[in-house]
Amino acid sequence: MLKGKRILLIVAGGIAAFKSLELIRRLRERGASVRCVLTAAGAKFVTPMSLQALSEDRVYSDMFSLTDESEMGHIQLSRDADLLVVAPATANILARMAAGLADDLAATVLLATDKPVLMAPAMNVRMWTHPATVANVETLKQRGIHFIGPNDGAMACNEYGPGRMSEPEEIVAAIESMLAPAERPPLEKPLAGKRAVVTSGPTREAIDPVRYISNHSSGKQGHAIASALAALGADVTLVSGPVAIADPPGVATVHVDSADQMLTACLAAGRIDIAVCAAAVADWKAARPAGSKIKKRAGMAPPSLELTANPDILATLSKRGPQRPALVVGFAAETENLVANAVDKRQRKGCDWIVANDVSPAIGTFGGERNTVHLISASGVEEWPTLAKGEVAMRLAGRIALHFGRPTKAEAAE
Ligand code: C5P
Repeated sequence: MLKGKRILLIVAGGIAAFKSLELIRRLRERGASVRCVLTAAGAKFVTPMSLQALSEDRVYSDMFSLTDESEMGHIQLSRDADLLVVAPATANILARMAAGLADDLAATVLLATDKPVLMAPAMNVRMWTHPATVANVETLKQRGIHFIGPNDGAMACNEYGPGRMSEPEEIVAAIESMLAPAERPPLEKPLAGKRAVVTSGPTREAIDPVRYISNHSSGKQGHAIASALAALGADVTLVSGPVAIADPPGVATVHVDSADQMLTACLAAGRIDIAVCAAAVADWKAARPAGSKIKKRAGMAPPSLELTANPDILATLSKRGPQRPALVVGFAAETENLVANAVDKRQRKGCDWIVANDVSPAIGTFGGERNTVHLISASGVEEWPTLAKGEVAMRLAGRIALHFGRPTKAEAAE
């Protein structure tokens, strides 16, 4: 329910604007009040009269209208709301918002607001996949703007692909998860229908056919996350480096050795909604691994090993443009300045969340059963108590379900 919640709905110019009428109806059914801002282009698709009739409030469109400003200034308009929703969010309004323009009432309200903002993009597939739009969406996400959709499907312009605005019911679910997460009924399998890839364990980088570079990662945390996501109903592919622990039941496990193989396996999983990169990927590999065993001969000086950088799987998945999973989670193992380094890593890698892991010797995370983590997202830093790795995994999976607007019983109880 959204009883008493105040939504400021910005309707921009797109064929999907007709769905905003249905959205207003659905929001009001749930007890929310809706006030509308209509852009000039939006008014080509829906009339102020229909918005006014459905919202039972006046519709705002002109920044310079004296009555608009005297009765309700643009600052007040956003202050009076609990949430701003832009539906449809066109390529144009995304670009104007990313650039910080204030050239009409809608853009000004978006620039002036201190409230959460949810965008429901709708546009031609080529406009959605254009690097300019991809960059604008990335910028807005980094600033903490929330997105729902677009969905795949046939479009008014006779093309097929991502670009259709999410359905009103989906937008309402996203709004509920932002404004009233605890009020939604908990679900047994909240991640049913979602596809996830989890990387886990170390990688092994060949020096020659018998020798390699690797690290001490046990894979316990990554495997536990794969299990936890599967327990909540997700379809999970676990891409595991060489580990001594068993494949988790109910999860499709792909075994790899090197970082290159791990990246290939992640990309081969196809379109995914969730990526959790918990693997301790070797930073470097041998530049030229020998095809046969490097022989040790009497009196021979030790050979030198030239290294080259491995691909960064987390950064690659985070920067995949339209193919990017809706939620990308990385890990940061730090021994000092845990939070500052992790916040910086989140920016650099372009992921949504970082689970920052205290691996200082006093905590002893590597190979151990417990983990002390902070969850870092656009909305801030959360400190979690020291927990067993399985509990960290369950809590993270619960958070992921909540992110998709589907709380678990534990999340709903909080
Ligand atoms: O850069 P650093 O190794 O500290 O970053 C850690 C995070 O990045 C982890 O989520 C790890 O799984 C991921 N990573 C990766 N590919 C690399 C290096 C790190 O996916 N080559």
